[in-house]
This record gives sequence, C-alpha cells and structure tokens, in this order.
Amino acid sequence: MKNFIPAVALLGLSAAVGDVQAASGNPEKGAETAAMCVACHQSDGGGKHVEGGESWPRLAGLNATYIAKQLHSFKEGSRQNPSMMPFANTLGDQQIADVAAYYAQLEPTQGQGGEETPQAVLDRGQQIAERGDWSRYIVSCKSCHGPGSRGAGDTFPGIAGQHAGYIKAQLKAWQAGTRSNDPQNLMGAIAKRMTDEDIEAVAAWLATRTPEAE
Ligand code: HEC
Ligand code: HEC
Repeated sequence: MKNFIPAVALLGLSAAVGDVQAASGNPEKGAETAAMCVACHQSDGGGKHVEGGESWPRLAGLNATYIAKQLHSFKEGSRQNPSMMPFANTLGDQQIADVAAYYAQLEPTQGQGGEETPQAVLDRGQQIAERGDWSRYIVSCKSCHGPGSRGAGDTFPGIAGQHAGYIKAQLKAWQAGTRSNDPQNLMGAIAKRMTDEDIEAVAAWLATRTPEAE
C-alpha cells in the first residue's frame, strides 16, 4: 500500500472528491436499520450472485463513506435502480451513516459468479484488471481501485471479491447512463470503452478474487 499512488491522485482529483461527508455512524444502531436490508443483502451482508437475474451486492467490509455516498446517490437519483431506491428513500442522514458503519465492520465474504468461467476468459479479465488495454484506452482497474483492486480510501471501492453479476450490472449501468454518480465521469468513460466480452471477463475474474489481501 505504501508505494501505491492512485492514478487520479496524480490528476489532483482527491480534493475534488473529498466533499462527501465522512460518515460517523453508530454500527449498533445501524444493525437495527439493516433488518430492512437482509432480504437482499443477506444477514451476513454478503449479498448474492443471481445468474441471469438481478444480483445483490456484498456490502460487508465496504468502506463506510463509500456506502453512505451510494445511499445518497439512490435518494437523489444519480443511481437508478427500482429494487434499491425505495429502501434508500426511507433512510434519513443519520440512519445512512449508521447502517454504513454497520456494514463496513462486517467480515467480507467471497464473491460469486466466476466459478464456471473458462480459463481463457478469466485470463482476459485479469489482463484488463491488472494491465488495462491500451489499444482501447482502458486503464487498468487497479490503477484506481488499489492493489488487487481491493479498494483505496473513501473514493475507490474494493471490487475484488464482489459478485460478477453485480459488477457487470454496474458497468452496463454506466454505459446506459442509469448510474452517473462517479466523480468526473471516471467510471462512465471507462465503461463506455468496454465491449460486452470485456465486461463479462473482468467481472468474472474479479469475482474469483478474495476481497482482502491474503
Ligand atoms: C429488494 C432487494 C433489496 C433490499 C431490501 C435492499 N437492497 Fe440495497 N441493493 C439492491 C440491489 C439490486 C442493488 C444494486 C443496485 C444497482 O444495480 O445499482 C443494491 C445496492 C445497494 C448499495 C450499493 C452497493 C455498492 O457497492 O455500491 C447499497 C449501499 C445498498 N444497496 C444498501 C442497502 C441498505 C442499507 C438496505 C436496507 C435499508 C438495502 N440496500 C436494501 C437490492 C436491495
Ligand atoms: C480512473 C479511475 C478508475 C478506474 C481506472 C476504474 N475505476 Fe471503477 N470506480 C472508480 C470510482 C471513483 C468509483 C466509485 C464511483 C462512485 O463514487 O460511486 C468506481 C466504482 C466502480 C464500481 C462500482 C463498485 C460498487 O461497489 O458499486 C465497479 C463495479 C467498478 N468501478 C469497476 C471497474 C473496473 C472493472 C475497472 C477496470 C476495467 C475500473 N472500475 C477502473 C474509478 C475508477
């Protein structure tokens, strides 16, 4: 971690994305709110990969400030998802901070959805995640998402060990414009350069990774 400088820090972006209030939540209070969330995000916060359907992201172990930001994004509509929006809309600011603190301190669980992916596809996914594809100006995922794409600070969520179905859905949402809450369109620009095959490959490979360094 010591030698890691996110690419965007070099662009002077860190100040620009620092305007999200650091969540100072109470995880015990958050546990009560989480009773509303378990039907989809599961009691361990691990979510679920649903093949061919809508996957529920793992929340356990994600950064609290990042989680809180996402809930505000659903409320204000810069992230649009019919399953999630009604739940975000019921939460006040303090409840958001509390439930974010609760999920952040849970033990992360393993990603699902990459288990049956052919090796050649996983290799392509690894290439995109770790080296990018300069022929199409796709920057490696880890240059922002941190070593192993396991997250960097409040701004860059861990995507290693997230469910393949969910990762795929987010990249498609950025392509379609139903998710537009990223600072300076960083993800939108990348997603729009990716083909369906690239998305399949990188989502599957990331899902097979552990969420935390071993
Ligand atoms: C009916 C199912 C359902 C319920 C109940 C639900 N969610 Fe979600 N949640 C989803 C889905 C589906 C997504 C992915 C949405 C998308 O694709 O943008 C999601 C996404 C999220 C995200 C974004 C995660 C990320 O990595 O960016 C957060 C945070 C979240 N939910 C928190 C909550 C909280 C807190 C509750 C309870 C108050 C809750 N959810 C209840 C289905 C649900
Ligand atoms: C230039 C920096 C940058 C690069 C490179 C980058 N990302 Fe991101 N990514 C971000 C930021 C910033 C966010 C958080 C957006 C927000 O605040 O909601 C994000 C969020 C995501 C999310 C949503 C995670 C969640 O829990 O909802 C996924 C999935 C994702 N990125 C996948 C990728 C993949 C795959 C690659 C490589 C092909 C990649 N990203 C490369 C900056 C980057």
